[in-house]
Amino acid sequence: MKGSHFFLCLFSVMCCLNLMLANGSKIFLFGPCRISMSLNEIRSGFTAIKANIQARDSIRTVSILSHPHSLHKIKSSDKCCIIHHLFNFYMDKVFKYCMTEDSYVNRKISSIANSFLSIKRKLVQCHNQNMCKCGQESTEKFEQILTNYEGLNVTSAAIKSLGELDILLDWMEKSR
Ligand SMILES: *[C@@H]1O[C@H](CO)[C@@H](O)[C@H](O)[C@H]1NC(C)=O
Repeated sequence: MKGSHFFLCLFSVMCCLNLMLANGSKIFLFGPCRISMSLNEIRSGFTAIKANIQARDSIRTVSILSHPHSLHKIKSSDKCCIIHHLFNFYMDKVFKYCMTEDSYVNRKISSIANSFLSIKRKLVQCHNQNMCKCGQESTEKFEQILTNYEGLNVTSAAIKSLGELDILLDWMEKSR
């Protein structure tokens, strides 16, 4: 009896693992905030349009996300704060201003935006549970990103931010 429970349990765990691997979900840690998500899906959607988006960005002298400091220097306790801000930023100020004349590109942008929305919901839960405390470092970092964004007009700033999505994805990839 006990034995069969054990195997049933083992079986369910293995099914769960398989499901997680099947849709590519992995656990990420942003300070105390644990989130299960599939970055590969976003990455492959972005890879499909990256060259197209970056070709629309004619301003080569500035960066939104990595000027003057890189995200990689942010300490662990500030990670949830910065990613929560950045997801709101991409939802409110980037995706909706990136629509192009190319419907394939637009579909890819919408699907990235949908993935962002579902991750954003999980970040909101962490935020509501007080896990996303904003230290001075993350506040300053995000203000700098907003300043960079506001230095350009809305369209150029949005296209540039989308073109830099790799920077955000690479940084998230390291938070596992
Ligand atoms: C935004 O800035 C870019 C680059 O400076 C320029 O080509 C474009 O015409 C501007 N768009 C608007 C709506 O002002």
